[in-house]
Amino acid sequence: MNSAPVRAIDPFGLRASSALRGVLFGTAASINNLRKDIDGGQYNSFIKKNYHVIEPENDFKPMKLWRGINNYSWIDCDWLLGSTPNSTGWAQQNGMQIRGHTLVWAQDKYTPDWLLKQESSLSSDKVKLLLSDYIHAVVGRYRSKVLWWDVVNEAVEDSKNNSRPFNLRDCFWYRKLGQDFVKYAFMFAHQADPQAQLYYNDYNNEDMGSKSSRVLELIKWVRSQGATIHGVGMQWHIRISRTVNPGDQHYQNAQRLIDNDFDFMVTELDVAIPINAGNPRDPNDLERQGRLYRALLKYALHFSPRCRALITWGFTDRYSWVPAFYNNTEGAALPSDSNYQLKPAYMQMQEELARVLPDGIYRLAPKSQPDKCLSTYVNGNVSRVQLESGGCNSAHQKWNISWLDNGTYRLSSQNANASALTAYNVTAKTGGVQTNNWSSNVNQEWVLSSYGNNVFRFRPRNAWWRVFALHDTSNVGIVDFVQNDALRWILTKV
Ligand code: G3I
Repeated sequence: MNSAPVRAIDPFGLRASSALRGVLFGTAASINNLRKDIDGGQYNSFIKKNYHVIEPENDFKPMKLWRGINNYSWIDCDWLLGSTPNSTGWAQQNGMQIRGHTLVWAQDKYTPDWLLKQESSLSSDKVKLLLSDYIHAVVGRYRSKVLWWDVVNEAVEDSKNNSRPFNLRDCFWYRKLGQDFVKYAFMFAHQADPQAQLYYNDYNNEDMGSKSSRVLELIKWVRSQGATIHGVGMQWHIRISRTVNPGDQHYQNAQRLIDNDFDFMVTELDVAIPINAGNPRDPNDLERQGRLYRALLKYALHFSPRCRALITWGFTDRYSWVPAFYNNTEGAALPSDSNYQLKPAYMQMQEELARVLPDGIYRLAPKSQPDKCLSTYVNGNVSRVQLESGGCNSAHQKWNISWLDNGTYRLSSQNANASALTAYNVTAKTGGVQTNNWSSNVNQEWVLSSYGNNVFRFRPRNAWWRVFALHDTSNVGIVDFVQNDALRWILTKV
């Protein structure tokens, strides 16, 4: 008996598997770190292996880019994206999509000082013009190179109720333009790059609480004003105590956005755990954290494609805002440790991504003989499996395939649901396959690899380097894999 999760090695990274499953994986990163290719190349190679999307953690913020009226600091973003419409930078050269964060950060402490200092002397019309100039300058410069923009960040105040519409924060932009600053920002961004996907981004807006309801009202209002807004970024800076399960408030909140025709994405995921001198106080928290990362991935997959991406706020505990924020009492929040070693969080996501087939009833035909199908027949007190031809419409010719949540699948004949396809003598020249009662045994677990077009390879979990396949013209068994159609299966959903 063995139901321990598959926790082997990581030859492939998350980049390809996440794309196949329909959710782009991304991470926050520092352009400076990328440019310096720090830590002996580990920083960049981890990103290239695992992610499609980079969200510069601080480099697109107004405090960094906007140095004064008509005065911008492009140097880092130009390195990432190229400075002219036709030039490229590190991002394009490495196949990375960019998420721009953020055009308007609606808190004074993140608004450029030089602007705040002029507040009393600036008219509303002038501020609107400045906002337009800034957004046109930034979005226009990187037009068609930034896929998504956080147009407005953190505009809604947390728990305290205030008298402003949508419970907006008291900030420079609100004081000068009222609630219209939100609408203007989206309008200017859309003018500057009509192709870009435009988001409102915030924290603590993941559940059904008052903040997410206010965010929803705000973005509905923005849209009602004729502005273009595509979706909501939910930051997901969470702690280990959070639970996320299908049907819960987080799912309800995501569904509510979709029902209102908004996309969303997870934009800044990290899961803080209590630490002591940088290490988890309770080593079991790493497993708990892993389950939570996996729960978030399941949530993203559940809502894909309306959930467009899953982005973590960094990827190595070596560089994370969390410990400083919690005065070093919480941290270790990311999927790899401070030496880039993979944590359970990473492995849990990798396992979840191994799911290449939805649960259901299927017919299985060898790719070399697509008019035949795999069926069961009783021989003595065990059920054997064989190939049959004909319509393949009987229950004994169909298979219930279900994901086991550990990287593998179970196959049960439709006429014997308590049974399971079981491998035996897996290392013999030709190993055997039959059906037995399901007993959660490792030789009843199958690893599926997809070739596209409903073609799959089946491998026994306890001999994953071999395959379950046709080994002559009519008999099936466990054999060595070579590139041969007889060793692959076409799966047709019934
Ligand atoms: O680079 C300078 C360095 O030269 C200087 O010596 C040092 C002294 O304080 O500061 C460094 O800059 C810091 C920067 O991070 C880079 O480390 C800034 O002070 C510091 O304020 C900045 O913090 C960032 C914070 O946003 C404010 O911009 C964090 O890295 C970043 O993770 C955090 O990200 C935010 C998202 O934008 C919005 N959602 C919440 C999230 C976490 O707070």
